[in-house]
Amino acid sequence: MAETFTIPEFTIPGAAASALLARGVAADTPLDSWPTEAFPATGPELLALRDDIASAIGGAAGSAIVRVDPDGLGDEDLCSLYWNFFTALLRPVEQYSSGELIYPVEVKAGAAETSHYSNSNKAGNYHTDGTLLPQLPDVAFLFGLSAATGGETLLMDVNGLVERLAGIDPAHVAELSRPVPFDVKDQTAGIRVKRQPVLTPTADGYELRYVRLYIEQGFAAEGTPVPAELLAAMDAFDEVSAVAAVDAECVLLERGVGLLWDNRRMLHGRRPFQEATSSRRLRRVYGVRDAGRAA
Ligand SMILES: [Fe+2]
Repeated sequence: MAETFTIPEFTIPGAAASALLARGVAADTPLDSWPTEAFPATGPELLALRDDIASAIGGAAGSAIVRVDPDGLGDEDLCSLYWNFFTALLRPVEQYSSGELIYPVEVKAGAAETSHYSNSNKAGNYHTDGTLLPQLPDVAFLFGLSAATGGETLLMDVNGLVERLAGIDPAHVAELSRPVPFDVKDQTAGIRVKRQPVLTPTADGYELRYVRLYIEQGFAAEGTPVPAELLAAMDAFDEVSAVAAVDAECVLLERGVGLLWDNRRMLHGRRPFQEATSSRRLRRVYGVRDAGRAA
């Protein structure tokens, strides 16, 4: 019964990669000051690639893997190249109230648990990105500067998960469709808790907003225990995701490899990793669809 999809893969050819370096972003550019104007994609190769990747994210797989040969490219080049490519597709948006437009996801495997999942090495805890922001990002993008051993990023389609959840008990789906408090951690001005449903019906299935930790913290902030029905529904959802994760599509974000996904549709997470020989260094960008751009 597992929904199967393969993440389409694309390679940025050498000439297109050179073209994408035309707008260099200096390595010391503050994270909140990267240029959000659309990079003017020109040339048939780059235009076709841009449109094909936009279609892949909007299509059955809800995602796309993109690769560029990292040979001869420093970190600043790779970051500029992928930043420019992303701005041709989507409008980058701030990831925190502090304004970061690009964010380093770098964690020591032995690091203690922190409040932001991206700075921890926890596996499991599959989630949606940007649930604390005023607007949920449409697309999330991670690309690799270096990979650890393990730590593959994996994606699961919400609609397949909901189907399995309904198979256990349709009441769980109903429970997750009611608004619940998320602790917004100062990410939305003036409020402590934002009420939103985990599952929102759409024309072709469900839209997902899920970070269990933030929901539990939201109830704690309100001084109310998590209702038993909601706990049961989240337990069942986590169980369904854990089972689906075993065969989920995943990709190791090695240097030069990027993954874009529909953040409203795909639950994501990562496999466990060790940094014995090399550390896991990624960059993250969020985007929203924009009339003048491709996605
Ligand atoms: Fe994430």
